[in-house]
Amino acid sequence: MIYLDNAATSYPKPKPVMEAIAECFKRAGSPGRGAHKMALAASRVILETRELLAELFNVKDPANIVFTLNATEAINLGLKGLLKPGDHVITTSMEHNAVTRPLKDLEAQGIRVTKIKCSQKGHLDLDDLRDSISHDTKLIVMTHASNVTGTLMPIEDVGEIARGKAIFFMVDAAQTAGIFPIDVQDMNIDLLAFCGHKGLLGPQGTGGLYINPDIDLKELKQGGTGGYSDDPFQPRIRPERYEAGTPNTPGIAGLGASLKFIRDIGLQSIHDLERDLTLHLLEGLRKMPRIKMPRIKLYGPQAGEERAPVVSLNVEGMNPHEVEFILDQTFDITVRAGLHCAPDAHRTIGTEGLGAVRFSMGYFNTMEDIDQAIETMRYICEKS
Ligand SMILES: Cc1ncc(COP(=O)(O)O)c(C=O)c1O
Repeated sequence: MIYLDNAATSYPKPKPVMEAIAECFKRAGSPGRGAHKMALAASRVILETRELLAELFNVKDPANIVFTLNATEAINLGLKGLLKPGDHVITTSMEHNAVTRPLKDLEAQGIRVTKIKCSQKGHLDLDDLRDSISHDTKLIVMTHASNVTGTLMPIEDVGEIARGKAIFFMVDAAQTAGIFPIDVQDMNIDLLAFCGHKGLLGPQGTGGLYINPDIDLKELKQGGTGGYSDDPFQPRIRPERYEAGTPNTPGIAGLGASLKFIRDIGLQSIHDLERDLTLHLLEGLRKMPRIKMPRIKLYGPQAGEERAPVVSLNVEGMNPHEVEFILDQTFDITVRAGLHCAPDAHRTIGTEGLGAVRFSMGYFNTMEDIDQAIETMRYICEKS
């Protein structure tokens, strides 16, 4: 099988991830709940993973990173914990439903939302962003990279603009964490949402949110935190305030192992490998001989422009789901067709009716995988 759906979830997971999960089942109890050996072992797992995340994102105090189930939960916490009726929030037309749906919900509660329309290739115009800012703008929220086109948002520039206007800045790093460098201090990011199961190579059911210590973010859940049990209210101390209930300790153990794996290989090497795979795919598809007509339409950034390892396309005359089905059933190549939970992004690039076929590369793909995918697309274009 050739797996090219890493933007949905990365596959396979590194061996140390599976080993760490198995080890956790053997040795760890409930973290922060009790002072016995098993509870302490679990607490160590959680602390170590939090520290590794802090190192990866250049967060000074690991307590400002809180664990969530996924990026969606982290985004909900950031948006709903911060915004109040009367606030204004700016976002883009390239967002995943993980951002657009909570914002829709907040809009109904009296929060004003401005959605900046990006170009057909998914680019954000910074002048449009500047023009959208008003006296009541509390937050700018955007993806770091589109999960449909791979287009990168200029988050360094946006961070600077936000800081200059004393507006909070939230980044959805679901598609970039573990692939692109992210430095919350340098990039002026106040809220960074990420999931553990894509570029971070960890298990599903893991994710988190970095929360700037200056933000008094309201928690969305209250409950047991292990300590402070005699306090009738949710403790305000971090990270406990945002982590009510027993966490996904085995998953977090796996995430810790994947973070060490990434650190050992080096983020830059991972980035370069995935960039080369993506370029190879794009070049192969662009060079494909035109039979009667150019049948493949590629979306997203121009040739040579940096993008996340995501390539979406359509084959003229074919439904994207049909292409996905043939790739999967006949050639054992796994891609994802449809709207990719990002209807706004598809509207922006002009594919809202049909969606597209998305190829997304990961660390464990090889150039041979890509050659095979190109060859198969050539065959499909000729025969279908
Ligand atoms: C850009 C983007 N944001 C958010 C999400 C949501 O991630 P999760 O499913 O881990 O909550 C995804 C997942 O595909 C994504 O691509």
